[in-house]
This record gives sequence, C-alpha cells and structure tokens, in this order.
Amino acid sequence: MTLPTHAFRSWLFVPGDDANKLCKALASDADVVIFDLEDAVAPDRKDMARSLTSANLRKPARPARYVRVNALSTGRTAGDVAETLAAQPNGYVLPKCEGPQDIDALATMIRSHDPEHLPGILAICTETVRGVRNLMRLDWSHPMLVGLTWGGEDLQADLGARANRGPDGQYLPPFALARDLTLYAARDAGVLAIDAVYTNFRDEAGLAHEVQAAKQVGFDGKLAIHPAQIDGIGASFAPDQADIVWATKVVTLLETDHRGVAQLEGQMLDQPHLKLAKKILGDA
Ligand code: COA
Ligand code: MG
Repeated sequence: MTLPTHAFRSWLFVPGDDANKLCKALASDADVVIFDLEDAVAPDRKDMARSLTSANLRKPARPARYVRVNALSTGRTAGDVAETLAAQPNGYVLPKCEGPQDIDALATMIRSHDPEHLPGILAICTETVRGVRNLMRLDWSHPMLVGLTWGGEDLQADLGARANRGPDGQYLPPFALARDLTLYAARDAGVLAIDAVYTNFRDEAGLAHEVQAAKQVGFDGKLAIHPAQIDGIGASFAPDQADIVWATKVVTLLETDHRGVAQLEGQMLDQPHLKLAKKILGDA
C-alpha cells in the first residue's frame, strides 16, 4: 500500500444531501472532505444524496474527496459506488467494516467499474463487536487500504453500553480499547490511523485535549463533523518545531556520525529513537 499523496490530518464529514454544507465543506481548510451517504442521511433522501454528492464531487476544490458509502449489509453499497465513481473521488470510507474480507468486497465493486482509477479505502473498523475482535485476530492489510479509523457511537449500540464516555469526558475502557486496537491494526497493515470524531463541536478545549492525546500515541489525523474543528486538528497534528529540532539532532548523532548509541541532554538514544526521528522528519 502507498500512503495517499494528499494531506490527511483533518477529515471533515458532510451530509451528502445538504447542498449548503457541501459547498462550505469544499471551501473549508479540511485536508479531506467525506461526503456521507450513510448515517447522516435519512432513508428517504438516500437516492437524492447520491446524485447531489456525485455532482459536487465534480466541482474543482482544494480538499481531497472521499465518499462514505452505506454498509455492505444494506444492499446499497454497489449502487453508491456505481453512481459516484465516474466523478473520481480520492477514496471511499467503508462503515461497519468487520475485517479484510469487507475491504476486499468494496475493492471488488470498485474494480468492476474502473480497474484503472483505483481510489483509496478508509475503513471504520470498530462499529460492531465483531469488527473490534477482528482487529487483533486478522491481518487487515489490503492493496487499496489507505487507513483505519474508529468510532464509539455505533459500537455503544452494538455493545448495549449506556455510555461511551465517563463523567470526566474520557472514553470508558471498552471504547479506549477499540481506539488502541485500531492503532495497532493500522500500524501492522502499514496504513494511516485516523482518530474518531469528537461530537461536542462547541467544546474547543475538549477537542484540543483529544487531538493531543491521539497524536502522542501515533495517530496520523482525526475525523471532524464541523468546520470549526478543522484548524485545531490541522495545527495539532503538524509536527511542532521542538520535535523537528529533536529529530534533526537525533539523525545527526546516530546516522550522520554512524553511531549505534549516543546521548542527548542526558537521555540515551539508539535505533528506536532514530526510527521515530525519521518519521517526524518525514511527516514534517
Ligand atoms: N460541513 C460543512 N458545513 C457545515 C458542517 C459540515 N460538517 N457543519 C456545519 N456546517 C455549516 C452550517 O451549515 C452552518 O452554515 P450557515 O451559517 O450557512 O447556516 C455553519 O456551518 C454553522 O453551523 P452550526 O450552526 O454551528 O451547526 P448546525 O446546527 O448547522 O450543524 C451539525 C450541526 C452537527 C448538524 C453539522 O455540523 C453536521 O451536519 N455535521 C456533519 C454530520 C455528519 O456528517 N455525520 C456523519 C459522521 S459522524
Ligand atoms: Mg454510524
């Protein structure tokens, strides 16, 4: 798999049946706009959402464009792909994905239309209990997969949990586990790990805290539901100057000077630090 050539820190969802929001999303600073045909669209507007999305995908815009199709179990997925693929989206988001076989099912639908233009797939892999269990059991790598992401809302329903966050606003353990397993499975598959939406879109401090926590453990970006969330996500995921200075020193000490181990301000450095430093400089 190859990482996408477009930026991938902020991914803004927009309901595929809302012309005003589609315009705003395409004009936003999001790295990627996700046109939603699934949960944000009422059942009697699904067909209209397909055609409106398809028309908006063709408009010239700076953000990369993905389409969230309806889940494989709905029988609508193939039609969603058929009506949007000619507009050449950068990728598709697959909800309620339970494993690599689901990714392959979507990939097969895409390839059956246009084997030349191969968009990426971002899979939402924690919306069912089965999906979460498969994160450790299966190898999720696939040639069209660009990333794994997760969410706690559908999982809450599938688990029968009364809440997914505690009184302090932090995810309760079963949901934090789902987030962590997504990160492990994404790293194992060599694809992006994208953190879940933060639904309280007026709470800037809460979002900033969650973005920082995700970045620290290795997530590459975060989903958003409101344009007001884009700046906070983009700025936090950008490597900060202190990280870049540290990484440059580490590469100089270990690689340029051909040393296996060195010290920087009293901290031992060896090969894992070199690997991390190269990732930081690559991201920058
Ligand atoms: N994309 C583009 N524009 C958006 C937007 C989005 N995701 N969310 C809000 N806006 C626009 C609104 O239309 C409004 O525009 P206006 O001033 O021209 O009327 C402006 O930003 C301010 O919006 P606000 O009044 O703060 O919120 P709202 O009540 O209009 O919308 C939500 C709130 C949650 C319904 C809306 O943010 C939304 O639809 N988010 C995406 C939901 C989604 O796709 N969910 C599926 C994945 S979880
Ligand atoms: Mg959902």
